[in-house]
Amino acid sequence: MAGDNGDYQIGGLHKTARVIIVLMKKVIVANWKLNPSTLKEARLLFSKTKNTLSVAQNVRAIVCPPHVFVQSLVVDQSSFCMIGSQDVFYEGAGAFTGEVSPASLKNMKVKYSLVGHSERREMGDSDLTINKKIVASLAAGLCPILCIGEKNRDDSGSYFIFLRNQLVTALAGVSRKLAGKIMVAYEPIWAIGKGATRSDSPEDVMEISIYIKKVLTDIYGREVGTKIPILYGGSVDEKNASDLIEKGGADGLLVGRASLDIDEFSTLLNFLNEKK
Ligand code: PGA
Repeated sequence: MAGDNGDYQIGGLHKTARVIIVLMKKVIVANWKLNPSTLKEARLLFSKTKNTLSVAQNVRAIVCPPHVFVQSLVVDQSSFCMIGSQDVFYEGAGAFTGEVSPASLKNMKVKYSLVGHSERREMGDSDLTINKKIVASLAAGLCPILCIGEKNRDDSGSYFIFLRNQLVTALAGVSRKLAGKIMVAYEPIWAIGKGATRSDSPEDVMEISIYIKKVLTDIYGREVGTKIPILYGGSVDEKNASDLIEKGGADGLLVGRASLDIDEFSTLLNFLNEKK
């Protein structure tokens, strides 16, 4: 049976004991940002991405195109290659020029939305705004992918407190039941985009994933907190993906630039598809 986070359970009764094995599919999120500029290119990129995955069993891809292409692409989404939104607003209707409501996305059959991406935070989204977006998304039935990440790393480790605060504020008022619909993407800002010189090291990704799980466990308890998938994003490419998953222990990847290059992205998809 598939769970909200795409995990599936194989349950069986053996005398009185019920055996449940939980297998978590790896997740790969393609964040196209403000690319491409034509619907034709967007369709081509999405169909090539989907075709790469036509026999996918073990990976769940979520492609986040610019809002303007969502409606045209979502009709072609499949259970293993879905369309997500790059952002979402917290109100359902009204005088909010330029915004997109969670309900309109949900009604269009979009299931996921990025919330709190560092580029949106840079454009003015505060922790409070992000919390409102998370709460409104869940209320409308969307599954938010909450992005967190520090700007800088200091030797005294205060970025751990910074990450904890980002998580605690963003998730304020989110019940344990709804927390099961969330994924967290750890994206250190210094590792994102053209200006970045490198991705994070697998060792640090492992350490920070454990820390995030600990914070989530403090909030939601072990049962829920340890099951929330933790993705890594920031300069992911075909060279570092395997270490980030295998040594870094990430449950999935959030990919920007490399998701626009179909050859490179196919390599990433195929790699993740082989992971169990
Ligand atoms: P990048 O972007 O892969 O181009 O560094 C990642 C992101 O911003 O989500």
